[in-house]
Amino acid sequence: MAIPDTIVEEIKSRSEITDVISAYVSLNRRGANMVGLCPFHGEKTPSFTVFVGTQSYYCFGCGAAGDVITFVRKRENLGYEEAVRLLASRCGVTVPEEDKGGVRRTKVYEINREAAKFFRSTLMKTEQAKAYLIKRGLGGKTVARFGLGYSGTGFELYRHLTSLGYKDEEMAAASLIRIRNGKVSPFFRERIMFPIIDVSGSVIGFGGRITGNGEPKYLNTPDTVAFSKGRNLFALNYAKDNCKDGLILCEGYMDVIAMHAAGFRNAVATLGTALTADQARLMKRYADKVIISYDGDRAGKAATARATSILTENGLDVRILNITGAKDPDEYIKSYGADAFARLLKGSETKFEYMMSKAKEKYDFSTDEGKIKAAKELSEQTAKVSSAVERELYTVKVAAELGVSKESFDAEVKKARRRAEKESGSKIKQEMQNKSLGIGDRINPEHSQNPKAVAAEEALLGIMMLHPERAVQIRNGRFDLGEGDFVTEFSRRLFVSIMKLQGEGKTDIGMLGGEYSDAEMSRIYEIQVRRNGLDSASEEVFDDNIKALRKAKATKATDIDEIIRSKQAENSK
Ligand code: GTP
Ligand code: MN
Repeated sequence: MAIPDTIVEEIKSRSEITDVISAYVSLNRRGANMVGLCPFHGEKTPSFTVFVGTQSYYCFGCGAAGDVITFVRKRENLGYEEAVRLLASRCGVTVPEEDKGGVRRTKVYEINREAAKFFRSTLMKTEQAKAYLIKRGLGGKTVARFGLGYSGTGFELYRHLTSLGYKDEEMAAASLIRIRNGKVSPFFRERIMFPIIDVSGSVIGFGGRITGNGEPKYLNTPDTVAFSKGRNLFALNYAKDNCKDGLILCEGYMDVIAMHAAGFRNAVATLGTALTADQARLMKRYADKVIISYDGDRAGKAATARATSILTENGLDVRILNITGAKDPDEYIKSYGADAFARLLKGSETKFEYMMSKAKEKYDFSTDEGKIKAAKELSEQTAKVSSAVERELYTVKVAAELGVSKESFDAEVKKARRRAEKESGSKIKQEMQNKSLGIGDRINPEHSQNPKAVAAEEALLGIMMLHPERAVQIRNGRFDLGEGDFVTEFSRRLFVSIMKLQGEGKTDIGMLGGEYSDAEMSRIYEIQVRRNGLDSASEEVFDDNIKALRKAKATKATDIDEIIRSKQAENSK
């Protein structure tokens, strides 16, 4: 459910962008604007600029751009609505709650909490359920810490909640019961219950495991107003306070519980589905590193590969735990103990050991030839380590393993570093050229086929965002410009959005945040900011760009080589 525009506007008007950003970045005044070190890429001289007039920011180093909402979204790894809600709570604006069939989220939390209490007391009274937990090695402390319970037949819960005054629709909104043709049926029956608690401590849903051999083995609360399985992680409520050294990501409830019981209190699990980008972003809020600890079987390995790329894409440092001799972490700890698991975890941490053991597998260290080849590969890998201290430590160890002097191996590392620097230098140049040609532009994929048209389109759109009166003039026919003039889909879409916003009497392009992705919003602000400070106020400039767009459209070049040649000629001027 979208947050009404008027409320978003209210929140933005109360969230002065420099105040909000100052909490994250130390800003200094430069002319009418503020500058600081960019929080989105590493830099030593400030190129991150906050424009007070337009309440937006732009980094001249990495191109990050946006408004106060985009900033919070990126910095806190939140979705659009979540970012708006966070800003709302900071500036004291009340945002209406989501509801489903009239039942509010907070009501669902309340019912879930009552249900969890009831499941707990049912467990205490059910010998067979207690026996199951004992069989699985779960002591009273662990059961209490995770609030484990037993569902019973499900009808006892229904009667209990009814006696507390809850209505059928409310229980159905929490997915604790289902109503079909007016008949009530409980959702969880004869299952061990695992309450799922979010980072604010609310009981948002449940997982239920069958005690025998039935299907499905695990049953989870379906998505409700309070719960979305792809956006939450089991045990993050505890792990978030113990994850200075990273989070451990497991496949299942039982693995997490076994880990916490063995002292690894930074373990979390997905809720019966593959890891999502939302979950990766959620982890990134609390940790920089994730150790994947999935089952050792083939499915586990495939899931590890997928999770690795999702985590890496979301800026997390990934380590992988190799579980051998047991099906999953739960069984590993049962068979070999917590100390062995701790060693396994440590092994996942030292990149050096991993690098050395791989080299030893590949090359024969007893021959000169093997050593020379290994030295070449190891020097390249060592060269990639960014910390100088770490590099020095590796250098000493590798030299000893190879039986050569520290100095000669160090010389190899330095050579490899110089080579890499040169390569990355020309890579940056290449990237800049590609950018101006629109090559690899994912936001506007038609860019590289129409670089001239896009240049004109973006000039027009940037001016329209900075000078809202242009849109009014377009509507009044002062300029002969319509959506049909735009060549690329993205630009056309943005043109339509800006015109619509103007039609509603709004000037703040941040209001488009609900319709565009985070990356698209950054581009939109980049388009605006690039016109900032340029002499673009005059109507002539606007007219000239319309002409340029028309021309580009008419002579729509199809020969990419020709475009590259002309660009290169332009660049070498
Ligand atoms: P135990 O058998 O209790 O030790 O569980 P496990 O954690 O070893 O289970 P498994 O490796 O089979 O599954 C890992 C996770 O996948 C579980 O914790 C569940 O979240 C999920 N899962 C497993 N089976 C089912 C199922 O039948 N339905 C659903 N929705 N999820 C399942
Ligand atoms: Mn298991």
